[in-house]
Amino acid sequence: MSTASLGVMDAISQRHSVRAFTKEPVTPEQLDALFQAARLAPSSLNSQPWRYKVTQDPAILEQFGTKEVSRTQTWLAGAGAIIACCADISGYVRDTQASVFFYKEHNIMQGDTMEGVEAYAEREASAAESAKFGAAAMNVALSVSFMMLRAVEMGLGTCWVGMFNEQKVKELLGIDPALRIVGLLAVGHPAPGQPTEHNRKPLEEIILP
Ligand SMILES: Cc1cc2nc3c(=O)[nH]c(=O)nc-3n(C[C@H](O)[C@H](O)[C@H](O)COP(=O)(O)O)c2cc1C
Repeated sequence: MSTASLGVMDAISQRHSVRAFTKEPVTPEQLDALFQAARLAPSSLNSQPWRYKVTQDPAILEQFGTKEVSRTQTWLAGAGAIIACCADISGYVRDTQASVFFYKEHNIMQGDTMEGVEAYAEREASAAESAKFGAAAMNVALSVSFMMLRAVEMGLGTCWVGMFNEQKVKELLGIDPALRIVGLLAVGHPAPGQPTEHNRKPLEEIILP
């Protein structure tokens, strides 16, 4: 089903985590469209630390459903594709600093703001590895959100999976050990009977007085 005329709010409302897929393949064009959306996400100092590794190999997808890889989330084996959403932490630090040089060189920011940006980049560079991961992962998550909404627009379903064995997934997909995997995104054509309700906190609980 093509839903290409959806507005942004329609895509937001119609997105649900999908954990059951039909056997209809996810095409290379659909994957490309997801990555095109992913690359347009905002990021701190335009560092774009997201890196994506996709698999559609049935034998590998089968492995994703196992106890060792995902604590027996067997439904993952039925996905049309699984995307490992990674953070390049050294790239994040490097590209953050490169942006600072660029802003300075081209006089894009001045005075106190420029000093603030320089201090931010220096802080990031000397931060603990866990803090760097948190900052890079925040950027990756935004990019994945863009993919999730673009998927809805194309009639695809997705589910972010945070429960996985990072080491095992790196081995399965041949991912550079220096990268960190922030999450997995399962993608496919939703099987009938997907949830239609959102279980969410009311605005009064999330808007602070
Ligand atoms: C960081 C993160 C980790 C998640 N991990 C899993 C997971 O391991 N397995 C799973 O089935 N769903 C996972 N989810 C999906 C959530 O359960 C789901 O988004 C939430 O219940 C709200 O439902 P909805 O996405 O249908 O609106 C995760 C979502 C996020 C954002």
